[in-house]
Formats: sequence, structure tokens, C-alpha cells
Amino acid sequence: MWCLQLLLSLLMIIKDVSSQWNVWMPRDISTMTNSCVVIPCTFMYPSGVRPYRGVHGIWYFGQPYPQFFPPVVFKSRTDIVHESYKGRTRLLGDLAQRNCTLRIGSVGTEHAGRYYFRADLGGANIFTYPDFSELKVLDQPNIDVPEEIVSNENLELTCYAPDNCPDVSPEITWLYAEYLPDPSSSPTTWRRATRRCCPARWPSSPGPCTTE
Ligand SMILES: *[C@@H]1O[C@H](CO)[C@@H](O)[C@H](O)[C@H]1NC(C)=O
Repeated sequence: MWCLQLLLSLLMIIKDVSSQWNVWMPRDISTMTNSCVVIPCTFMYPSGVRPYRGVHGIWYFGQPYPQFFPPVVFKSRTDIVHESYKGRTRLLGDLAQRNCTLRIGSVGTEHAGRYYFRADLGGANIFTYPDFSELKVLDQPNIDVPEEIVSNENLELTCYAPDNCPDVSPEITWLYAEYLPDPSSSPTTWRRATRRCCPARWPSSPGPCTTE
């Protein structure tokens, strides 16, 4: 019993300390091929930790364990990164302000996967956060079509394209749909264009939409 209590209080101490190493980044983020993506990120470290020779950081792809040599996406101490990220990554955040916001440009499908951040505060104070951001790379926009299409009733079609590259917002265009009302569009992390139309004049399969 005494042993259990000791174990419990030890666990609580460990939990308390580790809860100060925290990172925030979106669990899922999407972008289109050839576009860019900005992964917003902020991190925390225990107040007792004094950064030694500045605050540094590393972004890893795939998995968080440096001993398995995951591809380095970005490293603030050097500019050596994995081949597939050369010239593509830039840290937009200021690490001294605990901001690890990362930009990846010219995104390809090979960049889809999990991104982990590792804070390097010097000495033994290096920590890889277990939370990650999972990047999805789409090569065409998503389109939502209702499961059931009823004749003479309004049909709502929504085309979605991710909007996580601040320099270029996607422009969504519907093809072969000149006779339909103007789409409504709303900018969020997903840009959407919705069309309501009359199924009687709608082709059997809905027209595609594209992004530019
Ligand atoms: C982090 O840095 C980015 C890029 O400069 C900025 O847009 C964002 O607002 C910053 N986040 C916080 C929490 O300060």
C-alpha cells in the first residue's frame, strides 16, 4: 500500500513536470500539390529551464525519434535538411517567442505525413513533443455530392479546397456549369464553393471543379 502511494505520487510529479513540455499544432492540416502549407505551432517548456545559447528547434518528418534518423524538415542550428525538403522549408515563427510555425513550399504528395517538433534549449534540455501535425496533400479538390438525388428538388454541391497557404488562396472554378447560379464561397481553412441547382438539368454525373 505504502509502495503504491509512493508510486502514485511519483507518477503525479512526473506528469506535472512533463505537462510543462507542451506543444500546440493542428492535428490535421491539408494543402494542394504545388501549393505551400503553413503549420501554426507554439511550444512550452518548464519555467525552470534556462535556454543555453539560444532556443533552437528541429522539425522531423514521419516519426519523432532522432535515433532512427527521421528526415529533417527544418533545423535552426544548421541549414542541413533532408533532400526532399531542400529549399522548401522556412521557419516563420520566432523560436525565442516559443513560436515554431513552419512553412513548406512546393508541396508534393511525398510530403504527406506526420510532422514533429523538437525543442533544443541546449545541454540536456532537448525534447521531442509527441504531438504531431498530419499533413494531407490533395491533388484535386474534394467535392460533396448528396447521397440521394431527387428529381425537381434543389441539389447542393460543395467543392472544398484547403486554404492553408497564405500567399496563394485557391480559386475554385466549376467546369461545364455555366447555366448554374453563382457559387457562394467562404474562406476558412477550407475554401468552399457551393452550387445549388436543379437536378433536372444536371448531367448524370456532376461536373468537376478545379482549383488554380
Ligand atoms: C507565430 O508566428 C506566425 C508567423 O510569424 C504568426 O503568424 C503567428 O501569429 C504567431 N503565433 C503566435 C501565437 O504568436
